[in-house]
Amino acid sequence: MATERTLSIIKPDATRRNLTGKINARFEEAGLRIVAQKRVQLTKAQAGQFYSVHAERSFFGELVDFMISGPVVVQVLEGEGAVARNREIMGATNPANAAPGTIRADFAESVEANSVHGSDSAENAAIEISYFFSGCEIVG
Ligand code: TYD
Repeated sequence: MATERTLSIIKPDATRRNLTGKINARFEEAGLRIVAQKRVQLTKAQAGQFYSVHAERSFFGELVDFMISGPVVVQVLEGEGAVARNREIMGATNPANAAPGTIRADFAESVEANSVHGSDSAENAAIEISYFFSGCEIVG
């Protein structure tokens, strides 16, 4: 499998509970390297654009409000099959359905406050990474 990059976000529920280090350890233990990382406070416009694919969904407004409720840590993870590997260790969107030992099973508070975002395809990873990082900010 090829080396890939994926966009990860440690969400406000997790930064609020000081879980950045614990979550980063999960990535590193899974063989993913954190090749870019920054802590940012998203604006409503930025969060809305990032999740624009969900703009028509009933939960969109609350999701955007949640994503701007505190700082997030945006990251680029690199490794073999990084997109799928990260989705695997994140666990299902709803923590009630997440496999034991996954980040969401262990840390998420609810389907909305589910601690992490991870790109769902290589195509979206490229789009999402370029939304947050310029080339010189990613050091492999
Ligand atoms: P989605 O892309 O379906 O999940 P994932 O984050 O696992 O790729 O949804 C994006 C985010 O929207 C999800 O992480 C949390 C939020 N969300 C809700 O708040 N309620 C919902 O019913 C769903 C499906 C998602």
